[in-house]
Amino acid sequence: MSPTPASTTPTAILSALLQEQQGLMELLHHPRKVTHAGRDFWLGDLHGRPVVLALSKIGKVAAATTATALIERFGVRRMVFTGVAGGVGAGVNVGDIVVASDFVQHDLDASPLFPRYEVPLYGRTRFDTDPALTALLFNAASEALAHGQASQAFPNARVHQGLIASGDRFVSGAGESRALHDALTGAGHPVLAVEMEGAAVAQVCLDYGVPFAAVRTISDRADDSAHVDFPKFVEEVASRYAHAIIERLLGRL
Ligand code: ADE
Repeated sequence: MSPTPASTTPTAILSALLQEQQGLMELLHHPRKVTHAGRDFWLGDLHGRPVVLALSKIGKVAAATTATALIERFGVRRMVFTGVAGGVGAGVNVGDIVVASDFVQHDLDASPLFPRYEVPLYGRTRFDTDPALTALLFNAASEALAHGQASQAFPNARVHQGLIASGDRFVSGAGESRALHDALTGAGHPVLAVEMEGAAVAQVCLDYGVPFAAVRTISDRADDSAHVDFPKFVEEVASRYAHAIIERLLGRL
């Protein structure tokens, strides 16, 4: 069997929630749905590039299943996550964008057998994103913010690049958010944002050698009003951000 040409090998675009995926779905050309592993995968062309759109679902295990299916069943050549996150780093505000340089699991603790946060038997705590794909995504996000309508409501919004922490918790308390930030930063992991999937996808992509990049728009500050800010942001803003960024990324691939 001859190998599939690189130009027809799709890029996977993962989102956690339907609202985050909506803007991309509307622009998908020649859409074809494949249901696999209890998930709907949408194949088609987006801005002239072959893509598979998928919902990671929520939490690390669900996201790992989706990422594995994208690689094993659909043979994707790269994976990009677009979604929202809670800002925990100083100056990481609602409406800002964080492009992940790497990921850590804030709820992983196999101590005293292994150091706190280390993923057992991987000998590492942080999982890097792909530098080249991340650079393209950073440029795409910066341009989307500078020129896009997406950010009109947040005129002072900034793009950050750095560490994102994932865990199976929606962080919704100022005390919890501060404790999480301080514990990670104190252990040498200066975290900017928190979400529930990215570290799992990064680990799967490392296992398979698939380039991975991730961008998260800050929907809340993971504080006492996070549960109010999050759904409002997801409904009103997230899909516009995702679309503006991915459009520009695909044009650069
Ligand atoms: N995604 C968006 N906001 C979040 C939060 N506060 N905690 C976990 N995941 C999130």
